[in-house]
Amino acid sequence: MIKIAPSILSADFSKLGEEAKSVETADYLHFDVMDGVFVPNISIGLPVLESVRKATDMTLDVHLMIASPSKYAARFAAAGADIVVFHIEAEPEDEARRAIAAICGAGKRAGLAIKPGTPAETLLPYLETLSIVLVMTVEPGFGGQTFMPETLPKIALLRETIEKRSLHCEIEVDGGINPETAALCVKAGADVLVAGNDVFRSDDRAARISRLRSATAG
Ligand code: DX5
Ligand code: ZN
Repeated sequence: MIKIAPSILSADFSKLGEEAKSVETADYLHFDVMDGVFVPNISIGLPVLESVRKATDMTLDVHLMIASPSKYAARFAAAGADIVVFHIEAEPEDEARRAIAAICGAGKRAGLAIKPGTPAETLLPYLETLSIVLVMTVEPGFGGQTFMPETLPKIALLRETIEKRSLHCEIEVDGGINPETAALCVKAGADVLVAGNDVFRSDDRAARISRLRSATAG
């Protein structure tokens, strides 16, 4: 079953509680954290996550696009994240492994993300320790960008490896997802689709969520 994860980066930040409620037919609520260092943009952080946590029971899928994520991963877990995903480009292996252990030790699901230029092979040594891997299908930093089809073979490689090793790790795609690109990603092996503009720029969010699901059915 394909999961849909609307990204609140594209929501109206003056009413995040209501915005979260408007997408409750989805599976995860995607929460993008940007620090202006790892990516050239600044978004939202811990206090906002605490508020959103109080406003919804949805699974909160936190995507850290920050430098030194191992310093903050446990705090995001404590602030209400259900899933904490950070970028492997942002940490050396020993720090990354420590951060994964800290997230799991807090009873949360851990994930690693890769930018479009990072090979999928970088993630392979970690798969056994992860609940989710996130393949960026645009350069991280902004919503509303155009999907990069050259990332599709990375999804396929991850799917093949996960099946071969009989793991339960989900594959999430993030950036430029609409009904057409969603279908390409699911065909390549993705099972969680992040969608910012496609869902939040519509007045009928539930209809957009259904549209994404039906575009990937069968
Ligand atoms: C971009 C973020 C995405 C973004 C996706 O760096 O990680 O989650 O919100 O937005 P759309 O779906 O509009 O490309
Ligand atoms: Zn994201």
